[in-house]
Amino acid sequence: MCGIVGYLGPQQAAPIIVNGLKRLEYRGYDSAGVCIVAEDTLRIGKQAGKVANLERDVNPAAIPGTLGIGHTRWATHGLPNDVNAHPHTNADGTIAMVHNGIIENYLTIKKKLLNAGYTFRSETDTEVLVVFIGMLYQQLGDLELAVRTALHEVEGTFGIVVVSTHEPDTMIAARRGSPLVLGIGQQEFIIASDASAIISHTRQVIYLHDNEMAVVHRNGSFTTKTIGNEKTHNAIQEIEFELDAIEKGGFEHFMLKEIYEQPNTFRDGFRGRLQPSEGNVRLGGLSSVADKLRTAKRIIITACGTSWHAGLVGEYLLEQFARIPVEVEYASEFRYRNPIIDADDIVIAISQSGETADTLAAIREAKMKGATVIGMVNVVGSTIARETDAGVYLHAGPEIGVASTKAFTSQLCVLTQFALYVGRMRGLPAAEGRQIAEALEAIPDRMHRILEQADGIREIALAYANATNFLYLGRGYNFPVALEGALKLKEISYIHAEGYPAAEMKHGPIALIDANMPVVFIATRDEIYDKVLSNIEEVRARNGRVIAIANEGDEHIAAVANHVIAIPETHPALTPILASIPLQLLAYYIAVERGCNVDMPRNLAKSVTVE
Ligand code: F6R
Repeated sequence: MCGIVGYLGPQQAAPIIVNGLKRLEYRGYDSAGVCIVAEDTLRIGKQAGKVANLERDVNPAAIPGTLGIGHTRWATHGLPNDVNAHPHTNADGTIAMVHNGIIENYLTIKKKLLNAGYTFRSETDTEVLVVFIGMLYQQLGDLELAVRTALHEVEGTFGIVVVSTHEPDTMIAARRGSPLVLGIGQQEFIIASDASAIISHTRQVIYLHDNEMAVVHRNGSFTTKTIGNEKTHNAIQEIEFELDAIEKGGFEHFMLKEIYEQPNTFRDGFRGRLQPSEGNVRLGGLSSVADKLRTAKRIIITACGTSWHAGLVGEYLLEQFARIPVEVEYASEFRYRNPIIDADDIVIAISQSGETADTLAAIREAKMKGATVIGMVNVVGSTIARETDAGVYLHAGPEIGVASTKAFTSQLCVLTQFALYVGRMRGLPAAEGRQIAEALEAIPDRMHRILEQADGIREIALAYANATNFLYLGRGYNFPVALEGALKLKEISYIHAEGYPAAEMKHGPIALIDANMPVVFIATRDEIYDKVLSNIEEVRARNGRVIAIANEGDEHIAAVANHVIAIPETHPALTPILASIPLQLLAYYIAVERGCNVDMPRNLAKSVTVE
């Protein structure tokens, strides 16, 4: 949440920062701002709304100077207006800072500053911190020391970048809980919340760790150290993705591009891992925990949002293939209810970003209690990837659309392989393993067959774009798909939608059904197909409108549903992977028809780094 960019080098900083902010806008788009150190003044342009508004009204790219910082905000403290927009400055306007995170004890610090005679322009915790740094600078006369001293008193989370007219050849960054990446170019540095703002300048990066800071200088030298001033030696790494992975590539929206990428991203998730002839899978990142997996008494999966839905599918997969009890926990609840965990437990954290604050807190709690923690993460080098004992990357590439799509199917790809891996070590017969592996290998081609139907799905979407409520129903493996379909619709179209296990309908939600209620059924041929068919009849008997996701050639469903979207047959356990794609497209086309900003839905942001 919130995008941060800082630049120090020989080039004009402002255009680089503005371009970086555009790349990071998916992290927050309530307001945007830039500060350039120009001679002995700080020149600041900031404004409520998107980076495009800032460019149009303030033209920050025209501010001259080779050192500067920028920010795109997802509001925590204070309204998303011009005054609360970052960067913020200290009392005499000589130090500027951008910040991602929440300073939890900002009121205590503010009180101290108010008593010392300081005043504040904004309602933000960020201004409190930079004013505090300014006060310390007056006493200490050293910017780095002032930043370090201030951060010692701070409770909460931060990713910050600080610049000052006092030291125009230095830029300082520090993090705790909010990601920061330092890009190292030819005598230039670019610091950002993620690598997407860096890749067009350099591929050489250092991922800062928690409680670490970077101090970079115009002469090309830099140090990384703990906030406690102990030098650290982080390896310089290469950014793994290509520039075109973070561009729209001719699609109208990132979300649509990412939906269409799924045959490839899914394949990348099993390439080099799956061994269909042996009915098994090789997961190198798990070798250190293989013995624990063989004997574990239970597995706890923890995640948030879409990743939690993937976790629910994981529960079904693991219980079926590996016969091991699984619990799926919202990370935000898990942490605060003093969970019973011990050293025999395996905890799996699923996260696209690898930075979600609740998931991170949950794994720290689990580790503290002695559990072995496995990460299933997309973003390489992210905090969750680093803090887990072992892990499997999703390999879905950067996901820019705020609504998660390709990461979800990649999570299912990895979870299926994980269940197969654990299943085979716990007695799953090779023949069954082969069936699963072959079915998984065939998924990308089947995905293409669904994507070819986009026009038909769009027509259905147009017919229901004015609906005010939707119900999504599925059973067994398809229940989590119902939840995920409903979440996709509500987050990008703002239509109220609920997902339920289909049989639960008669215990309450059936009261909502009338001719104005579209009901999406995931009704593929499996062992509970007949029961779902009865549920459809119950909805039709009450004049509900039924959109069914059914298998190709299913005449029964065609006879009862108002609309059918056909998906190819696959192994029943893999149905969620295919069934989720038409639901992504349905939500996408409905949202577009309603004129919603699909890639930047209101109030949301990618990567929720605050609790
Ligand atoms: C929904 C969505 C969110 C995320 C959730 C967890 O489309 O994107 O619900 O799934 O915030 O994020 P990660 O997976 O990054 O931990």
